[in-house]
Amino acid sequence: MSQLNNFKRYTITSALPYANGPLHIGHLAGAYLPADIFVRYLRLKKKDVVYICGSDEHGAAITIKAKKEGTTPQAIIDKYHNQIKQSFEDFGIGFDIYHRTSSAIHHDLSQEFFLNLYEKDEFVEKLTEQYYDEDFDQFLADRYIVGTCPNCHNENAYGDQCEKCGTSLNPTDLINPVSTLSGKPPVLRPTKHWYLPLDKYQPWLEQWIDEKEGEWKVNVFGQCKSWLKSGLQPRSMTRDLDWGIDVPLVEAKGKKLYVWMDAPIGYISATKQWAIDNGKDWQQYWKKQANADDDTCLIHFIGKDNIVFHCIIFPSILHAHGEYVLPQNVPANEFLNLEGDKLSTSRNHAVWLHEYLEELPDKQDELRYVLTSILPETSDSEFTWKDYQARINNELVAILGNFVNRVMILMHKFYEGKVESDTGTIELVNTAINQEIGNIYNALEVNLEAYRFRQALQNVMDIARLGNRYLTEQEPWKTIKIDAPAAKEALHNCLFIIGHLATCLQPFLPRTATKIFDMLNIGSLDFDGELVFNNGHQLNAAALLFEKVEDETIDLQLQKLQNKKQAVETEHQHEIIPAKENINYETFATMDIRTGTILTAEKVAKTKKLLKLTIDTGIDQRTVVSGIAEFFEPENIIGQKVSILVNLEPREIKGILSQGMILMAENAEGKLTFVAPVEGFANGSVVR
Ligand code: 2FM
Ligand code: ZN
Repeated sequence: MSQLNNFKRYTITSALPYANGPLHIGHLAGAYLPADIFVRYLRLKKKDVVYICGSDEHGAAITIKAKKEGTTPQAIIDKYHNQIKQSFEDFGIGFDIYHRTSSAIHHDLSQEFFLNLYEKDEFVEKLTEQYYDEDFDQFLADRYIVGTCPNCHNENAYGDQCEKCGTSLNPTDLINPVSTLSGKPPVLRPTKHWYLPLDKYQPWLEQWIDEKEGEWKVNVFGQCKSWLKSGLQPRSMTRDLDWGIDVPLVEAKGKKLYVWMDAPIGYISATKQWAIDNGKDWQQYWKKQANADDDTCLIHFIGKDNIVFHCIIFPSILHAHGEYVLPQNVPANEFLNLEGDKLSTSRNHAVWLHEYLEELPDKQDELRYVLTSILPETSDSEFTWKDYQARINNELVAILGNFVNRVMILMHKFYEGKVESDTGTIELVNTAINQEIGNIYNALEVNLEAYRFRQALQNVMDIARLGNRYLTEQEPWKTIKIDAPAAKEALHNCLFIIGHLATCLQPFLPRTATKIFDMLNIGSLDFDGELVFNNGHQLNAAALLFEKVEDETIDLQLQKLQNKKQAVETEHQHEIIPAKENINYETFATMDIRTGTILTAEKVAKTKKLLKLTIDTGIDQRTVVSGIAEFFEPENIIGQKVSILVNLEPREIKGILSQGMILMAENAEGKLTFVAPVEGFANGSVVR
């Protein structure tokens, strides 16, 4: 092993998923499948490795879900923790422990960490003004505040981020903030919090990150450098929330730890639990050892949205504590898309792991294969059902399955499944094959150790390709009649190729590898193990490894995605916006609404949404600034009949005096259409 080789122990983590929903293929491809392949590889190299994960059960993600489902956070985490755990098991993600951040051991350790830093005077205490919902009598988590993004004017930006333009925000950056609890504008109230002084750690972080250049993936290193370049700010490690871990200070009564402080500590508390359960010393897997050569190699597998937390914030916490090792690498993946669109839980645009197995039972290795082939290692990638079908039919069935099957069938047909020779034990002595397989192992190890799992899978498939080529060249089904020893030798050589194939497949397709070892009737082999058949070794019957995926299967899945899309749209259409409070007729009658016609229309410079219109109101021609630019091209609406509120107080918008308002109807998806009089009505007609 390259630089990875020098370690005594390996602590491998995968991001703790929020226990607020089931898993989909994007999760698997992001932080779990690559880590599982890597861990299985380390185990094949006989390394001392612990693979850690668990549910992330705190933070606004959980409370928001509970509110949506009309239940408690506890009920949410219990439901999804079990479902998520089951999906990981079903897909063979081989954690040594799948733990929970709601456990007592985790609460205790997180508080211990906080106190350790507090007692060292690491935190900066600050009194700041934060948004408070007076109706609900509580401070608002960033996600509980929505408003207009100052960057792109998206009206549904969250207090921590605008999902439309991706800008990271503070709640006070939002224009017209509204509490999602009461629907009212929140007020600012002073509150005290404990901040991690990332600015103080910046010089140390810069040096530490710089050492990773060339070793860490370019996307990860680049993101770290850009965070550092924009200058780190202190970040609050406490929150005014009612769900989470109590801040262990008398003066912080009612406050909780920031979820991004406690979640990564979840890796450590899970290791503690695993050590208790297995008679191990957890400190060896996390703490600096007396002799640095004995330190563990810590690697975090995550998705790209978690980079800052694992490369800047958590290392700062570990550094401030002082006793812990720092991550050796953080091989973050980019995102996986589905059929040309982002995976989305809220739009139900996903392939859910539990549904996949209900519809395609026992096909977990097929999905592992396809996802590994398209892992978003260096840029976003895309899953499509057609590609799934093609990869299974053209690669798993036609190359891998076909080779193993042909050899097994011939061995049974010619020799009744017996591996026999006149010279005793049977080994692979063909130099050319040995050489080629040796090269493949080398390439495979280099790729695995560089986190290039897509490439590594291709290396394994090269063994199957080599087997097919060799079998086709040797033609034992022909030579058996003219040169029987040559036919036998060729088939025996193929058995060795199959043995190597199964060995190397283990990290990627563990179930398939086991099936092949079973057919060969041998135990599983590690990377250093040598395959030797005793004279007379009996093979087991040939079993089909993969089935062809039919068009109907794919059409069904595509149809299902389409149906989900339609269901979400229909649901939106049926979302009834509650009526506003009653007003009397006199109030209504104060509004002077007239029919009119758009005479000119042009975009307002430096805005995305605004059009400057000239309207013939029948009374006069006047300018109106209207927020409809995203829906209509100026040239297409000239001559459009409209209804216009003419006695709205004039208002200056972007330096233009807007006199009145065009009436528009807006549907549930936010689409706009004109509320227009029937053609032929004169401008200036009164709407009442
Ligand atoms: O983004 C997420 O889904 C987080 N729950 C990941 C946490 S990773 C770790 F820090 F625990
Ligand atoms: Zn925005």
